Amino acid sequence: MKNYRTPSLVINLKNYAEIYSNYSLDISKISESVANETSVEIIVCPPNPVLSKIIDIVNIPIYAQHVDDSKIGSSTGSIVPELLKSINCPGSLINHSEKRIPLDEIERLIIKFKEIELTSLVCAQSIEEVEKIAKLNPDIIAIEPPELIGSGRAVSKVNPKIISDSVGVVNQINNDIDVLCGAGIMTAEDVSIALELGSKGILIASGIIQAKDWKNKIIELATPMKNYL
Ligand code: G3P
Repeated sequence: MKNYRTPSLVINLKNYAEIYSNYSLDISKISESVANETSVEIIVCPPNPVLSKIIDIVNIPIYAQHVDDSKIGSSTGSIVPELLKSINCPGSLINHSEKRIPLDEIERLIIKFKEIELTSLVCAQSIEEVEKIAKLNPDIIAIEPPELIGSGRAVSKVNPKIISDSVGVVNQINNDIDVLCGAGIMTAEDVSIALELGSKGILIASGIIQAKDWKNKIIELATPMKNYL
C-alpha cells in the first residue's frame, strides 16, 4: 500500500548552503505548515546528517536524498535502508542525477524497500532509463533531464515531451508507478503544465531554496496541485 499521496511536491534540499545550520529544519517546518494549509502532499529531502532530527520534529514525510545498497553491520560510512526504517524515515531518492548508481543496485534497493515498506523514488535522466527503471517496479519515477537541473528553465516548458513520453512508457509497463518530473521548475505555471502532461507532482530544489521567501514560493507551487487532490 502506498504511504504517500499524489500530487506530491518533493523538495530536495541537496547541499545548498541556504539550508545549513537550522535552516533545513526551518524549511521543513514551513513545508509542514503549507501542507496543512493546502492539503497537498509535501515531502522534504534534507541531507542525511539531519534526517533524524527533522523526522522527530516535523509531521510530513521526510525522505533521504540517497541510500546505499549495503548490508547491515560492517558497512562503515554507508546509509542502509534498514537504518532509514529504524529512524522512521519513510522513503528515499535513489539514483538522483547527482548521485547515480548502477541499475543492479537500483534493483536491489527497490526489492529491499518493498520488503521493509519504504517508498522508492527513483530518478531517471532519459526515456530509455525511465523504461529500464519502470521494469523494476519502484513506487515513483522522477524524470529529470540533467541539462535543465538548476537552470531555471523548466522541463515542463523546455521539454514537455519527455514528461508525456515518460508517463506513456510507465503506464504501459505498470500504471501503479507514479511519474514525477523535475529540473528547472520555478513557477506555478511550470507546475500546472507538468500536471497537465500527466505528472503526479514535481521534484524541485533551487526554485524553492533560492527563493527570497520560502513560504510564498512553496504556497505558489503547491496551489496548482490543489486542483488534482
Ligand atoms: O532533485 C531536484 C532536482 O535535481 C531539480 O533541481 O534545482 O532544477 O529544481 P532544480
